[in-house]
Amino acid sequence: MARRKIIAGNWKMNKTPSEAKELVETLKPLVNNPDVDVVYCVPAIDITTVGEAIKGTNVMLGAENMSDQDKGAYTGEISAAMLLDAGVKFVIIGHSERRGYYHEDDAFLNRKVLKAFENGLTPILCCGESLEQRESGVTLDWIRLQIKSDLQGVTREQAASMVIAYEPIWAIGTGKTATSDQAEEVCGAIRKTIAEIYDEETAEKIRIQYGGSMNAGNCKELLAKPDIDGGLIGGAALKPDFGKIVNYDK
Ligand code: PGA
Repeated sequence: MARRKIIAGNWKMNKTPSEAKELVETLKPLVNNPDVDVVYCVPAIDITTVGEAIKGTNVMLGAENMSDQDKGAYTGEISAAMLLDAGVKFVIIGHSERRGYYHEDDAFLNRKVLKAFENGLTPILCCGESLEQRESGVTLDWIRLQIKSDLQGVTREQAASMVIAYEPIWAIGTGKTATSDQAEEVCGAIRKTIAEIYDEETAEKIRIQYGGSMNAGNCKELLAKPDIDGGLIGGAALKPDFGKIVNYDK
C-alpha cells in the first residue's frame, strides 16, 4: 500500500496574523496537489486567521506546540482541546528548537504525544541528531532512543496514524541538507524501529518526513526515496517555493 505524501510547513515564530493571511492568499493557487496532504503548522496566534483563510482549500491546519496538561493554572500554555476546537488537526511535538531552547525532554514529550492522541490530534513527532552525534557515529542509536522514549504507551493504531519527522539538527535553517542517502538511511531505521516496537504492518503505515533545509531544488530527490513520505519545511514554507515542494512530482 502506497503511503500518501505529507508536506507540512513549519512557520516557526514568523508572520503576524495579517501577514499570515497574506501568505495563505499568496500560496493558495500554488499548493494544489490531489496526491499530497498539505499542512500549515502556524504560530498559535495565527491559528484562527489561517483556519479561516484555508477554508474550502485542500490545506489542513497544524500547531507548532501544545501543553502536556488538560486545563487549568498553566499560564501561557495552550491545550490540545483548544487546538482541536480551533480546527487544528496536526501538532508538531519535540521540534529540536523546543528540545534545545526550552529543555523539553523525552518524558515530557511522551506526555504531549499521549495528550495529543487523547484529544484526537495527530502528532508530528520530531527527532534528529546533532553534528557532534553524527560525527561520533551514534546517530541511529540516538534516534532509536528518542523514538522509543517518546512513543511509550502509544498503541499500534495510534502509531500507524501519526507522522514522524526526521530532522538532523545540523541541517535545520543552515542551507545544509542531508543527502538523500543520509536521510533515507535514518528514515529507514525509524521505520525499522517502529516494526520492532509494534509490527511490520504499523511500520508500513506510519508516515516519516525529512526536514532540514528542504527546498524546491532538493525536494524531488529526497521525496523519491522509499522511506521518505514527506517533508517538514521551515524557511521555504514562507515562500512560493512551498508550492513547488508540494508539486514535487509535476
Ligand atoms: P528549515 O527548517 O527547512 O528552515 O531547515 C525545518 C524545520 O525546522 O522544521
